[in-house]
Amino acid sequence: MWQRSPPWSGWWPLAEDAAAPRTHSRHLPDALGRRYLLEFDTAELASRRADVLVIGSGMAGLTAALGAAANGRSVHLVTKGRISETNTWYAQGGIAGAVGEADSVELHLADTLVVGQGLCEEDVVRAVVGEAGEALRDLVRLGVEFDRVESGAVDLHREGGHSLPRVLHTGDATGAEIQNKLSGAVKRAERVEVFEERFLVDLLTAGERCVGALIYDPATHDLEAFWAGSIVLATGGAGQMYRITTNPLLATGDGVAAAWRAGAEVSDLEFVQFHPTAFDSAASPKFLITEALRGEGAYLLDCDEKRFMLGVHELAELAPRDVVTREIEKVIARCGRPNVWLDARHLGAEHLRLHFPTVWETCLEAGIDISKDLIPVAPAAHYMIGGVRIDLDGRTSVPGLYASGECSCSGLHGANRLASNSLLEGLVFSRRIVRALETDAQPVPPARVVSPPSDDSVLYTLPMALGNLQSVMSQFVGVNRSEGSLEEAATMLGEMAAVLDVSLTRPAELELQNLVTLAILLTHAAWYRTESRGCHSRTDYPLRDDEHWRVRTVWRRGASPRREAITGRTDAWAAGERP
Ligand code: SIN
Repeated sequence: MWQRSPPWSGWWPLAEDAAAPRTHSRHLPDALGRRYLLEFDTAELASRRADVLVIGSGMAGLTAALGAAANGRSVHLVTKGRISETNTWYAQGGIAGAVGEADSVELHLADTLVVGQGLCEEDVVRAVVGEAGEALRDLVRLGVEFDRVESGAVDLHREGGHSLPRVLHTGDATGAEIQNKLSGAVKRAERVEVFEERFLVDLLTAGERCVGALIYDPATHDLEAFWAGSIVLATGGAGQMYRITTNPLLATGDGVAAAWRAGAEVSDLEFVQFHPTAFDSAASPKFLITEALRGEGAYLLDCDEKRFMLGVHELAELAPRDVVTREIEKVIARCGRPNVWLDARHLGAEHLRLHFPTVWETCLEAGIDISKDLIPVAPAAHYMIGGVRIDLDGRTSVPGLYASGECSCSGLHGANRLASNSLLEGLVFSRRIVRALETDAQPVPPARVVSPPSDDSVLYTLPMALGNLQSVMSQFVGVNRSEGSLEEAATMLGEMAAVLDVSLTRPAELELQNLVTLAILLTHAAWYRTESRGCHSRTDYPLRDDEHWRVRTVWRRGASPRREAITGRTDAWAAGERP
């Protein structure tokens, strides 16, 4: 008889911290205690085995697969779209690395810590920015071509929060260049077998250990057990929780939700980064107008065509993203129109066409000549800072399970991600995982996993549920939140949690369950943190509260969340001390 694995019963634990400011004490819907989404018995399923199973084919997944294979391991790489359909592909700006003559690892460290607002783990930041140079050289060896200046040195762009130009790029389509070169290398790699258009349903665990994943093939409707000694999650973010997002349709948080169900710790989910300048059009997802354009000197203008970032922050349009986004929201409210304007006209047609061909073409297709016209822009959900909690070598709290890239939470980004540090994080952490596997790796264990049946009624139709979810998150858990808005969201999402109690089998239905899971966790995390910091902005708690909240929030299914102290001197850095 199926027993639902330990139901969520944890009232939130503020009794243990009497000095903490008032926060909520609501509990999560019981359905978030569910262990597996589907009914199955692996003894009845086809199965495959490899030393390493990598799930996801963006920067993080491809790097892990290539590295593990180069070390002689057999690798299965599973991805839910075609191999190149990833969030990485959409990255325009580029990848940060202290490779310029005037730059240093210490400067990159300082910028990351300052933007992270006291929540970055300093040892993690050091490890990532310190390995950037070597990791980027290896990318170039794999064939990635970054733009160069006449002398042959790499051309560096500047983006928000960086104290100098530091972003390597390939025009404004850096992600596509990296994606294409790495996908090509993986397809050629001898020991990597690629499974495209396969959906991660759940991670399989035996005892404490992750031993594989349940994978669904929508073409044949077959479920398969993919067993592995080590499993690397590289499934990206969950921007599809929001109505207005830069993320493609596939960004539905499947890996984070599966890791939650498997008992892995997740952390810092309240921090969602909104990109200030998505192209304001009817299209969905929104096309990003890269921050590098502001780095080249484009201005933000209000409805009177006046620059509004001057005087708000010393870096004006190049202030950290949370600052620019909140200011844009204020201007949008003041002006009563859905967008502000980005003015790149003074940069000249030739320069714009040459350096920003993707932005140029996309705007032109929408009838906007960016050398003559203002570009309508507005904030859009862009990046999930929280995720599956990992250590310095990408290990999650579940033995055998690793995570890298946007689905993970390493502590690199703190409360606000420094622009173009995300591709770097995926690259460096996957390299670290590959190294860790050399000592951690276990043989593929024999296992049988059984998940008994669930209820079979559902209250929502799929499009209605997804639309509701996105509206709730956009309206109540967006750039600005408050106890009232979060309570409203928690109530509405709690009703939607009914979908978590039914066995749904189509990928879109499974994606919906993952989105609902993450939306509920995110809402409660935002409700829990009674302060404003980085990209978590509470209108009822507008100040940063270092006394109580210079901590990361860490939870796992079936337990109460806990606060964990930050390591290193990130408070001093965040207060503006620099080397
Ligand atoms: C951008 O090009 O503006 C996005 C870069 C990033 O999200 O790091």
